[in-house]
Formats: sequence, C-alpha cells, structure tokens
Amino acid sequence: MKIKDLEFKKAISSTKILERVSELAQQVNVDYKGKTPIFLPILNGSFMFASDLFKGITIPCRISFVKISSYSGTASTGQLKSLIGHEESLFNQDIIIVEDIVDSGLTLQKIMDDLKGLGAKSVEAISLLRKKEAREKNVDVKYVGFDLDTEFVVGYGLDYDGLGRNHTDIYKAVPK
Ligand code: IMP
Repeated sequence: MKIKDLEFKKAISSTKILERVSELAQQVNVDYKGKTPIFLPILNGSFMFASDLFKGITIPCRISFVKISSYSGTASTGQLKSLIGHEESLFNQDIIIVEDIVDSGLTLQKIMDDLKGLGAKSVEAISLLRKKEAREKNVDVKYVGFDLDTEFVVGYGLDYDGLGRNHTDIYKAVPK
C-alpha cells in the first residue's frame, strides 16, 4: 500500500487486533470491578481502538472523547499541551486515558500529570501500541496491546499526514 511518498506493508491483521483488544477489555473489567471509571479516548487516533474496546467493557463506565491542544509556551517551556473537550467533572474519578500509540511518552506523561493535578482519584492509561522509546523509558502505561520497535505505522485510526486512518489492519512503513 502506498500513501504519498511512503510504501507500507501489513504488520498486524484486523483479526489479531480485535482478539487483543477483547483481551484488554476483559482485563479492565476485572481490574475495575466495583468501580465506575471514566474513559478519556484521545482524538483523533484512538477512535477505532476506543470503539472496539468499549464493545468489550461490561462494567459501568463513562466515556468522554477529548483532544489535545498544542500551543506555544514561553521559550523556556517550548510546546505545551493540554487536554480539551471533557465535559464531566474529573475530580475524584478513576480515569483511564485511551491512546492509539505511545512513542516518546511525552504527551501521555503531561496529560497524566495534569489530570492528577485536577484531583482525579486515579489515572491510568491504555494504549493499543507502544514503541521502543516509551518501553525503555518506563512510561507509565498500565495496559498495552502490542509492542513495536521504532517503525512508523498507519491504519486502525493512525495516520500519515492525515491519511490511512480508515484501514482496519495496521501497516508499517517500509524503509526507503
Ligand atoms: P509521543 O508524545 O512521542 O508519545 O507521541 C504520541 C503521538 O504521536 C501519538 O498519539 C500519535 O499521534 C503520534 N505518533 C507516534 N508514532 C506514530 C506512528 O508510528 N504513526 C502515527 N502516529 C504516530
């Protein structure tokens, strides 16, 4: 498959993804039994993962899709990121952030710190994919679908320059 200048080949099939997502949902059901967590899927990348994940969640829960807005900070802080769009109060809530992929982990770490600062009872993350850097840095992701090396991937919500989100399989870029 070609998207713009890059060639991609299939890396994880739709069947394998759905099997793993169902396992993750069962794990969350067990761990959060007796609680009513609020899931915060991060748009746009997590829309397909979130949709399949929630089909397997049977405990009572709230779901509020959110976005990350980036804005330029001062020269010393560089790019700051904040979470926008959550309508429910997050105070004293058990929050589960739903991510498509954690690469350096910087985005996720910042969001988790912000949510803890808002007085959440607990903050955990679930990510379909995790890259090598996040693994080596021990970025705090409680639930991970698949571990990757450093390859760039598209499909199942993930994009390359806005394209490729619609594919149900995950593809990785072939090095040039
Ligand atoms: P981090 O802050 O470096 O962990 O960046 C995470 C974000 O970068 C993800 O939510 C994606 O939007 C994007 N990203 C990182 N790796 C990939 C990839 O291989 N394909 C598509 N998007 C990616």
